[in-house]
Amino acid sequence: MENEMINSKAYFAEVAGEWDEIRSGFFTEAMRDAAIRKATIPPGAIIADVGTGTGFVLHGLLDRAVQLVGFDESQQMLDVARANFAPYPQVQFRQAEGQHLPAEDNAFDAVFANMYLHHAPAPEAAISEMVRILKPGGKLVITDLDTHEETWMRQAMSDRWLGFPRKDIQTWYEDAGLSTIDIDCAKGTCDCSGPDEQAISLSIFVAIGEK
Ligand SMILES: C[S@@+](CC[C@H](N)C(=O)[O-])C[C@H]1O[C@@H](n2cnc3c(N)ncnc32)[C@H](O)[C@@H]1O
Repeated sequence: MENEMINSKAYFAEVAGEWDEIRSGFFTEAMRDAAIRKATIPPGAIIADVGTGTGFVLHGLLDRAVQLVGFDESQQMLDVARANFAPYPQVQFRQAEGQHLPAEDNAFDAVFANMYLHHAPAPEAAISEMVRILKPGGKLVITDLDTHEETWMRQAMSDRWLGFPRKDIQTWYEDAGLSTIDIDCAKGTCDCSGPDEQAISLSIFVAIGEK
């Protein structure tokens, strides 16, 4: 279910300086690293991360890639990302809306997107755009929330979509031309406190498909 009033730009501009700490409460390096292992990316790959934020996924890919590009629409998140990755010249960042990525067709061996899709105005189009920049044989690896009913997250975190049914992800992957599609539970949950400080644990899927 979408909320058309949501614009996450203001939210991420405000939290950019604290995102690394906020994020560490939501989901773990172990979840990220399990998704990366499952995708079996060959060493020396050229990899993109869409909705990269401050570069959480890119950190996990540093030893597998010769070139990494993080795309995000938020200049403030990218400012933090650039500072985080100052020692790594192989990592570049581009400010871009996810449905209009400034990249050639067939450019990347893998494209990752962690917790970006539930902010995308049109998730199916966002998936097609990520597939466009993948090389034939390249892998799309999306980690995001399964469907949930935590409506307060729209206001509190600017979430546009309350997760996704896995059958929709399957259909969007197929329609974008991906095959060998595997959608499974990620190794971990998204944990946060609800409006009454109650502990909430949301399930996360990892969806991998090959172009
Ligand atoms: C929940 S954060 C996840 C950041 C990062 N992937 C991580 O795991 O820490 C979502 C990110 O997606 C970006 N984003 C949201 N909507 C976007 C869009 N339409 N195009 C590009 N980036 C977008 C936000 O600026 C934010 O950095």
